[in-house]
Amino acid sequence: MDNFPVVVQADASLPNYSQENTFLMRPNTDGDSPPTEKVGTDFDSRMMQRCLELARRALGRTSPNPLVGAVIVKDGEIVGEGFHPRAGEPHAEVFALKAAGVRAQGATIYVSLEPCNHYGRTPPCSEALVKAGVAKVVVGMVDPNPLVAGGGIARLRAAGIEVLVGVEQEACRQLNEGFVHRILYKRPLGILKYAMTLDGKIATTSGHSAWVTSQDSRTEVHQLRAACDAVIVGGNTVRLDNPYLTSHQVGAHNPLRVVMSRRLNLPENAHLWQTADAPTLVLTEEGANPDFQQLLFKQGVEVVELASLTPDRAMAYLYERGFCSVLWECGSTLAASAIAQGAVQKVLAFIAPKIIGGSIAPTPVGDLGFTTMTQALSLERVRWRVIGSDCLVEGYFPQTSRA
Ligand SMILES: NC(=O)c1ccc[n+]([C@@H]2O[C@H](COP(=O)([O-])OP(=O)(O)OC[C@H]3O[C@@H](n4cnc5c(N)ncnc54)[C@H](OP(=O)(O)O)[C@@H]3O)[C@@H](O)[C@H]2O)c1
Ligand SMILES: [Zn+2]
Repeated sequence: MDNFPVVVQADASLPNYSQENTFLMRPNTDGDSPPTEKVGTDFDSRMMQRCLELARRALGRTSPNPLVGAVIVKDGEIVGEGFHPRAGEPHAEVFALKAAGVRAQGATIYVSLEPCNHYGRTPPCSEALVKAGVAKVVVGMVDPNPLVAGGGIARLRAAGIEVLVGVEQEACRQLNEGFVHRILYKRPLGILKYAMTLDGKIATTSGHSAWVTSQDSRTEVHQLRAACDAVIVGGNTVRLDNPYLTSHQVGAHNPLRVVMSRRLNLPENAHLWQTADAPTLVLTEEGANPDFQQLLFKQGVEVVELASLTPDRAMAYLYERGFCSVLWECGSTLAASAIAQGAVQKVLAFIAPKIIGGSIAPTPVGDLGFTTMTQALSLERVRWRVIGSDCLVEGYFPQTSRA
């Protein structure tokens, strides 16, 4: 782990991450959550933002666990920091306590997620904090698992430790939205990303699509991939685009590249079959093209046959593999199928100021079976921002609970 753990002075030039999210927020009028009152002081917010900054160092690497950062402050100075590097390794609090040593006694610890209170792969952090003699614990958000939520906080309070909950809560939730979704719905968070022209086309009539958007937007997509556990395309996208689907950044996490193909009549040579930089998984149906499966095996591509290849089955399988967030980068056919099956919760639409025309040029989402505009799926929590010459619109489908 590079330069970890780090100990810095509280007044050293910590980046102000309250400025980080440059989305132009439209006032939230969708009524899903009322504006929350600020919890804690400005200093508390800065320390929690530092926790999130630390947590982000493990972006894309912690699933099925969350991203968590912790900062220990004594007499106004940071004396220990830590983050959870990956599942199976110690939690953020443990690293921070180790860095602080005896200075943790009587100190305040900031942690972006409620300290755990159960024996999992590691002993409970609540006990470690009690043992270290911290005086106060500042928590970003409670554990999203309703079965254990509040348990860690209750344990700390029972030991006479002051606990403040909800500092920078929204930012903490946002960072772990995939993890939260996984816990609540037993599926990874599905994010549909597409790039379209101003006249709503994702490719030309001949299927050519490189590139719809600017380099700035594509760089943004690379960063998005680094934060996701998997990225999915369909067979046609492999046949027509021959994509790489990597994060194109030295040292950054690459998601598992997943191809859904029923027919398995895919090119013998494709960038996705080069697995030295990033792994590839092909999901198909039982008995599909055994010869081609052999060819893929030989190149280090994993092939998994599902009884029926549907977006929901694919997401169920990726959940079982411990994934929190999955990026759908497919064309319109698979996108429509994924939306119809509830495999997409969030949409990221990159819109380039270009007109390509073509009455049969593909659009982002195929047939959903709707006939009147009143049937349209409305997004909530919609935000937009300008990236280079493009516009990115982001929103969420209203969440319904899964049986
Ligand atoms: N601008 C963008 O953001 C963007 C992104 C991606 C793609 N594209 C463009 O989109 C076009 C391809 O679109 P496409 O709609 O054919 O997309 P696709 O991403 O290739 O998805 C369709 C393919 O998915 C496979 N599939 C497996 N299970 C499926 C299921 N349950 N339902 C539907 N499909 C399933 C099938 O592969 P098999 O035929 O192999 O069985 C099917 O042909 C290309 O022109 C590409 O350039 C644009
Ligand atoms: Zn823990």
